[in-house]
Amino acid sequence: MAVYLVTGAAGFIGSWLTHALVERGETVRALDNFSTGRRENLAGISGKIDLIGADLRNADAMSKACAGVQIIFHQGALPSVPLSIQDPRTSHAANIDGTFNLLEAARAAGVQRIVYAASSSAYGNKNPLPQQESMPPGPISPYAVQKLVGELYLRSYWEIFGLETVALRYFNIFGPRQAPDSPYSGVMAKFIRMMLDNDQPVIFGDGEQSRDFTYIENVVQANLKAATAPAEKVAGRVFNIACGEPHTLNETYHLLAEILGYKNPPQYGPPREGDIQHSYADISAAREALGYDPTVDFVEGLRRTVAWYQEKHQEKQKEMKKAEVSA
Ligand code: UD1
Repeated sequence: MAVYLVTGAAGFIGSWLTHALVERGETVRALDNFSTGRRENLAGISGKIDLIGADLRNADAMSKACAGVQIIFHQGALPSVPLSIQDPRTSHAANIDGTFNLLEAARAAGVQRIVYAASSSAYGNKNPLPQQESMPPGPISPYAVQKLVGELYLRSYWEIFGLETVALRYFNIFGPRQAPDSPYSGVMAKFIRMMLDNDQPVIFGDGEQSRDFTYIENVVQANLKAATAPAEKVAGRVFNIACGEPHTLNETYHLLAEILGYKNPPQYGPPREGDIQHSYADISAAREALGYDPTVDFVEGLRRTVAWYQEKHQEKQKEMKKAEVSA
């Protein structure tokens, strides 16, 4: 049976993949440096995985992590456009140096395949819609450049060293366990948390920018399929992973408000630096080569996500009440 390595295993997407692999009875090595990942994301399965606390920037640690592994899901990264603008060096080190270290370690260890978390940000603003993988990239932010460099490195390691590589360009993934409380959090988690706390979210710009928001379970499916699809169909390639449906931020705000019963109108602020206007994927390549078929649509994804944050919110309130009573 294959041994899997998941990097960024305690993060949002990495933890979903780790849980899915454990459910399937696979042998999983889970790596995280816990800079943004949380141990609680691996609750319930920590006894069933080989958990390694190590940083992608540490080449020796990557060599150890790759020993005996056949398939890697490389999710570890600092995944934020604004963070990459605020602190490009730290972001570069995690996203480019980290990916390079992992590829080098994987090559030396004879790993068979690496499935990589690439980003829709690679398209930038220039491409016609929907965006297809054959279009020339136009990255704008340092984050977009870093994720694209990772794709290029993967392709090179396939062409030159025969390491099977598959890059999945994620389009704004959302769902339970996405961190809601950092200034760099994804918009969905941030808005849900703010609405639950009765704070007022701020839409950057006029809210008419759109995203092909994709529920996490679709991404898990894409990764599992990318790990086992025949090499002749997928190795060295890049695939869009999305729902193939754009939604504006205004529309998203109003849908969330409706589901949550939140009454306040949005506040608007200046547009965010490095922001993309529209992001909308053609997913036919992934359908054809991976057999990818998104099963949870946007609205159902929003409902599931809101339900999860509501539960967490209620748990937190109960704990606070208990603490008040005992104080
Ligand atoms: C980008 C990438 C995505 C990647 C992600 C990593 C694109 C098209 N997408 O997402 O593939 O996974 O980075 O972080 O480049 N917003 C607000 N108010 C807020 C927060 C955000 O209005 O408080 C807006 C942003 O300006 C943006 C949209 O919401 O227009 C989505 O932002 P965010 O969730 O940060 O993701 P992207 O930067 O689009």
